[in-house]
Amino acid sequence: MAHKNIRLEVMQTIEKDVDSFINQYLIPVEEIWQPTDLLPNFQAENYMEEVTQIREEAKELGYDFWIVLVGDMVTEEALPTYESWLMDMEGIDQHGRNSWSKWIRQWTGEENRHGDTLNKYLYLSGRVNMREVEITTQHLINDGFEVGTGRDPYRNFIYTSFQELATNISHSRVGKIAKKKGNKSLAKMCNLIAGDEMRHHLAYRHFVKTIFDYDASEMMLAFADMMQKKIIMPAQNLRQSGGKMASAFDDFSNAAQRLGVYTTYDYIDILEKLNAHWEISKISNLTDEAEKARDYLLKLPSRMLRIADRIKIPQDANRFKWVEPNGIV
Ligand SMILES: [Fe+2]
Ligand SMILES: [Fe+2]
Repeated sequence: MAHKNIRLEVMQTIEKDVDSFINQYLIPVEEIWQPTDLLPNFQAENYMEEVTQIREEAKELGYDFWIVLVGDMVTEEALPTYESWLMDMEGIDQHGRNSWSKWIRQWTGEENRHGDTLNKYLYLSGRVNMREVEITTQHLINDGFEVGTGRDPYRNFIYTSFQELATNISHSRVGKIAKKKGNKSLAKMCNLIAGDEMRHHLAYRHFVKTIFDYDASEMMLAFADMMQKKIIMPAQNLRQSGGKMASAFDDFSNAAQRLGVYTTYDYIDILEKLNAHWEISKISNLTDEAEKARDYLLKLPSRMLRIADRIKIPQDANRFKWVEPNGIV
């Protein structure tokens, strides 16, 4: 259990820098965009024209596209799960209001705008069965998630470094598809959300980089452990009404792979980027066990590439209640 105390000490040491991380990576409330900046203004006379335009622009987008956008929105809407999980990390003093808990609150405040934006857009698009979508959101929050980090900040920050970049990639790809189909307003929403995800990614990878300076062997072991377990998506437990927990995730993920919004190759690419940024190959003075973990991490991308080439994605779109007017009978 000795390593746990070192983790706490490391977290307390870095805590002094967290206020400057907040200044560097988060944007003050009064300066950042808000969902309604991107949506029809219902206090204006011409609000119906703006609504009509949203509905018109939505017509060119295909079945898989709506599945992916719903899945992405629901993932964002499960924010209560992520905030409560992060607040529970070792070193976060929610009640003493230390700088770490301040980071998590302000990160949550920024993230909360993503689900708000996409939720309102989907409602206005007229293309999805909103009640079915809402049921999925409530289920996902009820089901929670288990991503293998426990209360360990090292594993948590590996997870968030990885996942923020994954969401940056998927939101910006959705934005590109929307733009190609002439849907400018949705493209703008996705790009702004992707920009937030990138800032968050840069922050979390900075946290990990700093921990490597203080506790390299344990940080390396945590990184390897998370990659061994695989980075599970936050929407892993996705289900539709009447379905079992997690039963909708594979079909959602296949739709994302078919569209090229988020694929196994992106996963490998993220790993390579993290290995490069943290200069994993150059970290020395490790324990024997951590040396092995480092070698595993360096070999993992090419190992995964060989497997990825053999994976076949089903080509037929699965039907979802989310986009059927009366559910699936
Ligand atoms: Fe987000
Ligand atoms: Fe995020």
